[in-house]
Amino acid sequence: MTSEKIFKNKNLLLVVSGGIAAYKSVYLLRELTKLGASVQVVGTANSLNFIGRSAWEALSGKTPLFDSFEVRDSSKITHITLAQDVDAVIVAPATANLIAKASCGIADDLASTILAAATVPVLFAPAMNTAMYENPANLENIERLKKRENVHFADPGSGFLACGTSGKGRMAEPEEIIFKLEEIFYPVRRGGVKWLVTGGATREYLDPVRFVTNGSSGKTGFAVSEAALKSGGDVTFIGVNAEPKFNPGYSVVKTVTAAETAETVEKYAGNADIFVMSAAIADYSPKKNAQKIKKGEYSVTAEFFRTKDILAESLKWTRPGAVRIGFAAETENLEENARKKLVKKGLDFVVANQVTAEFDPFGADTNTVKIVFADRIEEFKNIEKSQLADIIVGNALNLYEVKRNGGKN
Ligand code: CTP
Repeated sequence: MTSEKIFKNKNLLLVVSGGIAAYKSVYLLRELTKLGASVQVVGTANSLNFIGRSAWEALSGKTPLFDSFEVRDSSKITHITLAQDVDAVIVAPATANLIAKASCGIADDLASTILAAATVPVLFAPAMNTAMYENPANLENIERLKKRENVHFADPGSGFLACGTSGKGRMAEPEEIIFKLEEIFYPVRRGGVKWLVTGGATREYLDPVRFVTNGSSGKTGFAVSEAALKSGGDVTFIGVNAEPKFNPGYSVVKTVTAAETAETVEKYAGNADIFVMSAAIADYSPKKNAQKIKKGEYSVTAEFFRTKDILAESLKWTRPGAVRIGFAAETENLEENARKKLVKKGLDFVVANQVTAEFDPFGADTNTVKIVFADRIEEFKNIEKSQLADIIVGNALNLYEVKRNGGKN
């Protein structure tokens, strides 16, 4: 996964407090915007002693904010919007003063109020003189902040400090801060895992021009492939009449029919560490007429024959230790049917969709699913397919790790 892909369309808030290391944050801002992120700068009043408004404005393309009462949009409360409508907050440099305020929840200016309201990930990059950094009060404040679930630190390095001394307290380099952010956005960066993902809907031809299919769009397969790629995986996607619009960065193999998909899965499955079968495969295929069927006076009948259950068959093709994930679309007895598929097809988990008269998951952007594992069920309501994909990929990687460690967590 390239950094460009990770930061593209990310909304970030860069909180700058009053320290000389703010000059490094200018570079950090430039790098983040180059990577495609949209960055709003918020500064403390003291930060203006180091870097002026126009530098932030020129590099972010947005007016930097320093005051709680600079209301941008009267329909929204500024500090709440700023703190919660972003993907992450970066505090760089984080002075001892701002760290102390954040650890105690003091909110007496825009920067500290944002930190008090933020529920999104917050990354602190401390920068200060060694004595201040090592002061027990500061270390206790950092320890207290580290216990919070959404708080992360890019720890300072040791080296030459602006005050002329040498020691710990030098702000992490912008590259390190960017790397930390990547880890926050995609904590599973286990590279080298080989993924085989299928997606789309088969076409079974009645004659050269007509076919039987279903409404599966392939969106889940694309989302899983994308998330697997983000995690550092090596992804092959079998697109069953489904092709990503842009060059996705993973390999795509195209298939049309159930039989062709079975052959392709057989060819690639042995190489996969994780196999995700999200394509909707026809269970029956008609005998194909060599010529176009001409219309007659009355009804026509076609005989349909069973296709291979690719996922069940693939038990022979995937390696022992590979993680196997299936899907289930059910109109009734969701959990019971999903559990039967879990056992019959030798799966690690099944992503089960309830299809109702009101909601057809095929083609939709959101989904309500139950993920059925051997020992538990997790339910997700109305989540984006991309979020579901991250959940699938995270669980698959964890299971893969467990299997590699001989079943130990
Ligand atoms: N599947 C498959 N080959 C088939 C049918 C399904 O590999 N011929 C896979 C699907 O990709 C999915 C899982 O099996 O991951 C379950 O598919 P689903 O259509 O829900 O169930 P079926 O096994 O076809 O059973 P039924 O139609 O009886 O519900």
